[in-house]
Amino acid sequence: MPSQTLNNEQLSLKVETNDAWIRSRTGIISRRVIGEGETLTSLCCQAGKEAIDMAGWEPDSIDLIILATSTPDDLFGTAPQIQALLGASNAVAFDLTAACSGFLFTLITASQFLKNGSMQRALVIGADQLSSWVDWNDRRTCILFGDGAGAVAIEATSPEKCGLLGFKIKSDGSRGDCLNLRQEASHLPLTEGRTYQKGEFSPINMNGQEVYKFAVREVPAILENLLKTTDTDPQSLDWLLLHQANQRILDAVADRFSIPHQKVLSNLANYGNTSAATIPLMLDEAVKDGRVKPNHLIATSGFGAGLSWGAALIRWQGPL
Ligand code: COA
Repeated sequence: MPSQTLNNEQLSLKVETNDAWIRSRTGIISRRVIGEGETLTSLCCQAGKEAIDMAGWEPDSIDLIILATSTPDDLFGTAPQIQALLGASNAVAFDLTAACSGFLFTLITASQFLKNGSMQRALVIGADQLSSWVDWNDRRTCILFGDGAGAVAIEATSPEKCGLLGFKIKSDGSRGDCLNLRQEASHLPLTEGRTYQKGEFSPINMNGQEVYKFAVREVPAILENLLKTTDTDPQSLDWLLLHQANQRILDAVADRFSIPHQKVLSNLANYGNTSAATIPLMLDEAVKDGRVKPNHLIATSGFGAGLSWGAALIRWQGPL
């Protein structure tokens, strides 16, 4: 996590809002913002190194690094820098963009290389710096987001020990307008009769109510589908690990399956919505404080811009 915190009171000095409103509508109390001396790349390296150390790996034994991010330090790709800084000299490294579904999509993508036998070890990182892309004068969006990075080390294993028991992923670009971060088309003169479009993005644009409705409709639907196809009783889940967007969304999804709220992992009060980072950050916290134990059954779901969403059923193995 970035070291700089920004709580609701501090934010209300910038935009017209207040702690009670933000808490009651979202559950968020504070968030982290990358400040001077830190970068997204440095957070990714820190998270990646911790994950590699927990797994007991040598960096040069990693075959693949995928960084889920919508806010790279380098539009050409940030993952290769992370590969170099971690000393993962044998790994191919690339970025994958799927906004708040990014970590889940990346985890599933990486696992396909492991399942088909072409690779053995992968480092999956989810990281975003939305503080650079929100309009800090728009109280409808700036209260929601924070910065962060999380990482998970995954390794190929025998089919009977495989921790990824099933997954579903979906996209619907026709509804993409309710949450986007688009390039603005400003045409500038190039030479006689020729123009070019300057590369500039407008800040995050969101229709909060539409996104809310999308999340509370689609996340339970895809989870239900996944649980059915994997023949899993919701009551047998140890944990529900959802993208940390809003406490009301988390509670609504849990209620749809009559899952007690104690089984819903949540740390968004402290960090807000860190986009691709929420799921690995939450998992890391719950593994380190002993809530998530080896052999626990976890249903996870990511959802967000695109629109994109997905779910996975995981039997947590822990460090082998
Ligand atoms: N502080 C105080 N008041 C605010 C405010 C803020 N930060 N933001 C909006 N308001 C006001 C509005 O102006 C409006 O006032 P009005 O009734 O006088 O017009 C009122 O609060 C209600 O606004 P509304 O936009 O209807 O609130 P809401 O109940 O839909 O909550 C969100 C807004 C953003 C919290 C909610 O829609 C949400 O969580 N959506 C999902 C967003 C999300 O998770 N995005 C990321 C997905 S990955």
